Amino acid sequence: MEFYNLLEKIVQHDESHAKWLNTLSFMENAGARKISACEHSTKVDLIQLKHAAEEHRHAYYLKKQILKINPQICKSYENYELLASVATKHYLHSLDIKSCKYLQEKFRLTKEELKYAAYLFVTYAIEVRADELYPVYQEILTKTSSKIMVKSIILEEEGHLEEMISQLNEFSEDWKAHAENILMIEKRLHEEWISAIAKEILEINYA
Ligand SMILES: [Fe+2]
Ligand SMILES: [Fe+2]
Repeated sequence: MEFYNLLEKIVQHDESHAKWLNTLSFMENAGARKISACEHSTKVDLIQLKHAAEEHRHAYYLKKQILKINPQICKSYENYELLASVATKHYLHSLDIKSCKYLQEKFRLTKEELKYAAYLFVTYAIEVRADELYPVYQEILTKTSSKIMVKSIILEEEGHLEEMISQLNEFSEDWKAHAENILMIEKRLHEEWISAIAKEILEINYA
């Protein structure tokens, strides 16, 4: 199923739509925590602080959108309140592990350096994905005259991608070639994630 069609299906049902928002909120929160975890104990700059703050805001904002659908559901991040919870967690975890493995092989890095490199490349891949995902989602929300809106997230994610690119430029001259490989890792994991969600949605719809 195409991502667009899948999202169209998801927003048709309040419960699956709430779970979708909650899943995005979960991922934004995990991303925010990851950015904070990658911080150096002293060398944290304004961009990194801004980035962590905004990802935390996204998690909060998406969670708040659920109230417009049904204030009684998806109050926490329990598995049954997420879409394809196993695949969702696998996506984030595997992207991290596989990227670290790749970066460690290509650059000889100390533990601290690897932490920073992982922050740069993993976050870059996630920003590329976010810049693709949120506009599609917003398009469907607009088309269906939904009360939910993610426009403010789209604006900030565009900024994040630019910021990651400028940080990567400082990190390495040939970052683009490596980023391509990280994007390939991400693409495969994203496909697995989407097909797990599609499977769950089809089961709900035709049960
Ligand atoms: Fe975000
Ligand atoms: Fe972001």
